Amino acid sequence: MNEAMKGNGAPIVAHDLVRHFGKTVAVDHLSFEVRSGEIYGLLGPNGAGKTTTVKMVSGLLPPTQGQVEVFGFDPMNQPIEVKNRIGLVPEDHILYESLTPREFFNFITSIRQLDEQDVKTRVKSLIDAFEFGEYFDKPIAALSHGNRQKASVIAAIIHDPPLLVLDEPFSGLDARTVRVLKDILNIHLENGGGILFSSHILEVAESLCDRIGIIDDGKMVAEGTVDELREMVKAHGSLEEIFLRAVQQDAEVAETVQALRKALTKNYTR
Ligand SMILES: Nc1ncnc2c1ncn2[C@@H]1O[C@H](COP(=O)(O)OP(=O)(O)O)[C@@H](O)[C@H]1O
Ligand SMILES: [Mg+2]
Repeated sequence: MNEAMKGNGAPIVAHDLVRHFGKTVAVDHLSFEVRSGEIYGLLGPNGAGKTTTVKMVSGLLPPTQGQVEVFGFDPMNQPIEVKNRIGLVPEDHILYESLTPREFFNFITSIRQLDEQDVKTRVKSLIDAFEFGEYFDKPIAALSHGNRQKASVIAAIIHDPPLLVLDEPFSGLDARTVRVLKDILNIHLENGGGILFSSHILEVAESLCDRIGIIDDGKMVAEGTVDELREMVKAHGSLEEIFLRAVQQDAEVAETVQALRKALTKNYTR
């Protein structure tokens, strides 16, 4: 990790972030911090405001209200400082369809003015780890979801950023790729980097995160380490119940399951 790449301050400090889309309040007074050497998970159901938060952190979307700082820099007003320090794996890949991964990575290397030899070594080890070699010269348009995701991860970390921001990075990946990506994240943390990632899947957040912020309707409804979250709802041992309770879906799910049982009950052995 290049120390000079870091500014002053934590990888992410988000304070009172709000984002409206017309009448929709996508993010509602959200505050959280991601520290160096830490992986912080934004966990929440679909529509909770995870992607909107990730976009505000990355400088892709201005907040309606509140501030976010990345190593002390403002993503909207200091985009170059911030983009140099963030490796973003977006939810919907912004890849160039007609390029091959090799061309795409060369393009990034040139616009970011990176050292070609450095990049070559990094890309080669990532390609080997992801078993991506046979797709290196195929048009991105022809790649499967999983292979695009691999290209997206490689593209995000080509410049060795101290902060990784990944929006639902594990969705649709096979077990081997999940394992390799988890290892990449762990190596990044060992190197003192910070990670923000989002997921709607509890097990993923639980297995990876130092701290989790559970968000629902744009609001932080619970935050802490996995153990602290368990402590918060002592009566319920399983994190799943804590999660569903935090987002107020437990009663609703129970009702839905009851209705399903009524509708689907039959006797297959008859
Ligand atoms: N560009 C947009 N225009 C209008 N509404 C949006 C836009 N982006 C997100 N939203 C709304 O904001 C809310 C949060 O969305 P999002 O941040 O994508 O949630 P998540 O990533 O947690 O599923 C949702 O209600 C969504 O419909
Ligand atoms: Mg999303």
